[in-house]
Amino acid sequence: MTFTAAVVGLGYWGPNLARNLAGSGCFELAALCERDPSRLERAGRAYPAARRHADLGSLLDASAPDLVAIATPVASHRELAIQALEAGCHVLVEKPMALDSAEAEEMRAVARAAGRHIFVDHVFLFTPAVREIRRRIQDGDLGELLYIDATRINLGLFQPDVDVIWDLGCHDVSILEFVLGREPASVRCLASSHNPSGFTDVAYVHLEYERGLAAHLHLSWLSPVKVRRMIFTGRRQSLIYDELDPAERIKLYDYGVEFDERDIEARAQMLVRYRKGSILAPALPVDEALAVEMRHIGKVLAGDEEPISPAETGVAVIRVLEAARRSALGGGGPLSPRSSSRG
Ligand SMILES: NC(=O)c1ccc[n+]([C@@H]2O[C@H](COP(=O)([O-])OP(=O)(O)OC[C@H]3O[C@@H](n4cnc5c(N)ncnc54)[C@H](O)[C@@H]3O)[C@@H](O)[C@H]2O)c1
Repeated sequence: MTFTAAVVGLGYWGPNLARNLAGSGCFELAALCERDPSRLERAGRAYPAARRHADLGSLLDASAPDLVAIATPVASHRELAIQALEAGCHVLVEKPMALDSAEAEEMRAVARAAGRHIFVDHVFLFTPAVREIRRRIQDGDLGELLYIDATRINLGLFQPDVDVIWDLGCHDVSILEFVLGREPASVRCLASSHNPSGFTDVAYVHLEYERGLAAHLHLSWLSPVKVRRMIFTGRRQSLIYDELDPAERIKLYDYGVEFDERDIEARAQMLVRYRKGSILAPALPVDEALAVEMRHIGKVLAGDEEPISPAETGVAVIRVLEAARRSALGGGGPLSPRSSSRG
């Protein structure tokens, strides 16, 4: 089954959506929308059959596609998504879904009332590496998870409308929700700003889950080096995910520390056994995440799959980010992501 699609916003990320929609085999790229004439012209040359529009209203008036993919700055997501949903389209909206949880929940409610899907482009959920991490955790390969340490830092692209928690943190939070299958019970954050806009550009976010699991996220737009790494420490094995190492994105360490809890004398002396076994780097498919995602969306629209990153996921991620921002403003105390919702 083939569906029609349009892409709104053809700056940095939008052309990637256009290329993957056009190449998916599930979508015909019917229209392009960009308010900057030179960008519209450049993107249009690659897809001569696609209609070109300077605004979403004229695109929808001409003919409403099945799917509108929105890759504009975050501040415009709510308005454009609601406009497309009310015209009867399904929506793929870029991450982060919205500026706050009230906007995200409104978008979800409009989609529900219209009987349409919102897909949030949490693109890492479609990478072979993150799918492998989820499988390994859920199959129990790591044993009990003890803690997670994530670093996502570089000399960042400062955004006009969101801070580093929104821009980078949404990747880690969406990955954690996907691989753990649960939301944090509380969120704390320490943050600082070193730029004239006052937006946070360095943040340390601490997520606490039930049963003692914690995840710590280091986010920065000010680091001289680029790091994209997550360490999942388990009682049985640990897993290191390095997004920047294409040859060995995932490594499983059969390493650990064992305490003999039954032997009273050993316990009193804190006798520790270090286990250092082998390191395994599993082979991963080389699929492009956006290509996997577009085929998945096509299958959802055909009724063959359930959405992996629906509006509910987008809302849950925004709630965690919002709790982090509020915690930072209040000095770093713990907040429940559930209570940060206005809805
Ligand atoms: N999933 C990812 O990994 C990923 C990566 C990069 C960016 N993004 C997201 O994609 C979105 C866009 O980011 P970007 O870096 O491409 O921004 P960008 O500024 O490079 O491009 C945005 C484009 O949208 C156009 N635009 C703005 N409002 C419009 C409107 N109402 N109608 C038509 N065109 C409009 C602008 O002219 C611009 O060309 C953001 O939400 C960002 O967070 C996601």
